[in-house]
Amino acid sequence: MSNTAEINVGGKAIELPVIEGSENEQAIDISKLRGQSGIITIDPGFKNTGSTTSAITFLDGEKGILRYRGYSIEELAEKSNFLEVSYLLIYGHLPSNEEYNNFVETITKHTLVHEDVKKILEGFPSAAHPMGVLSSLVCAQTAFYPESLDPNRSSDEVDLSIIRLIAKMPTFAAWSYKNQIGHPVNYPDNKQSYAANFLKMMFANPAEDYEVDPVVADALDKLLILHADHEQNCSTSTVRVVGSSHASMYASISAGINALWGPLHGGANQAVIEMLENIKADGGDTKKWMAKAKDKDDPFRLMGFGHRVYKNFDPRAKIIKKAADDVLTKLGVSDPVLDIAKGLEEEALNDPYFVERKLYPNVDFYSGIIYRALGIPTDMFTVMFAMGRLPGWIAQWKEMRENKEPIGRPRQVYTGSKERSYVSMSER
Ligand code: SDX
Repeated sequence: MSNTAEINVGGKAIELPVIEGSENEQAIDISKLRGQSGIITIDPGFKNTGSTTSAITFLDGEKGILRYRGYSIEELAEKSNFLEVSYLLIYGHLPSNEEYNNFVETITKHTLVHEDVKKILEGFPSAAHPMGVLSSLVCAQTAFYPESLDPNRSSDEVDLSIIRLIAKMPTFAAWSYKNQIGHPVNYPDNKQSYAANFLKMMFANPAEDYEVDPVVADALDKLLILHADHEQNCSTSTVRVVGSSHASMYASISAGINALWGPLHGGANQAVIEMLENIKADGGDTKKWMAKAKDKDDPFRLMGFGHRVYKNFDPRAKIIKKAADDVLTKLGVSDPVLDIAKGLEEEALNDPYFVERKLYPNVDFYSGIIYRALGIPTDMFTVMFAMGRLPGWIAQWKEMRENKEPIGRPRQVYTGSKERSYVSMSER
């Protein structure tokens, strides 16, 4: 394809550059369009619009490819671990032995949070959804580390803010759960691995001994890898737009947590399990619910299905589906909703409505089944997604800052009233 595109606006030919990425993706650069023609483009939901160039994650939706800094998700899920993948996403290369040990040791030293975090936690009613607590605690870090408010600090200071957030996220997540069930919080155990430390803070309680099951810790570490980044998804785009105003990393990521909360995005993993439970309670008639999912007059959607980018299998869903079978077998757990999920998947993959629209299971379809088998409560599922996505949000925020990207401020086409004069109350 040529490296320019031409559009005709009112009889005037406008030539625009076409850029090409390292995986031969092409885009028309419209940054000068308005200046040359007075018109803009419009694309609700940005389905056809790129917001940036990025060197972090590559997706090929047609081929079901996902790579972090060039490494396939399949290889990383099998051979790496979450903190190594976090380093890779944030710093762009697999760490040397020394870089890795230093990264892990520094994170381990920062797992404790300020005791005043408890006062914030105590201010939340126990019914508070853990995602609201998590986004509040992350944003509150600007109060404990006011130097983090300035995103233009030295790279060492930005690195320290990164370390603090990665280290404290599991503590915030586990404490938001303990607040919900009215149990005392557990302090981090720095002898444990990242995933094991989280599990211990989540499930240990003073009334009994608790040993982390290595099968559970390994499964959780793999799930965190699978969620670590996904290019310009809704929550990552939120982090970038908030960060583009030079808001702090903590404020930007707190906004990303709130975007992830929505059931069309990261909240889908909770919505999938609630959907499967409803289908089970309704007698397990998957054909009835498939019909509802296809009925335009019915707001019901098959949660965990479909994706803005993947028009083939989400490669993460394949890995998670296999991991679900492995974990349930190893733990000796049988979960009836897994059978319902497999039944729905089988039907959808053979149903013209889903096939024509290329709707396949996404990352959220099976993840809730594993979380449940690991003992994670349903409304903590999206918190798990946020814990996994944290290094991706950090990497994307850092790339946007280092590339000195302009403030994100889209244009619009106005469709409201034309000019009219004010009418006093007595005359209305
Ligand atoms: C994540 O972007 C990312 O990368 C996100 C993510 C990440 O890692 O960050 O991958 C994580 O958010 C995964 C998606 C989790 N959400 C869900 O599982 C919720 C259910 N899925 C949908 O709501 C939907 O598929 C979206 C939101 C995921 C994508 O929506 P799009 O791209 O805007 O597509 P659309 O809503 O325009 O749907 C296209 C057609 C429509 O039918 P028609 O108008 O063509 O007749 O497909 C239909 C939709 O009605 N459709 C569905 C459906 N998803 C789309 N019909 C029934 N059930 C569904 N799940």
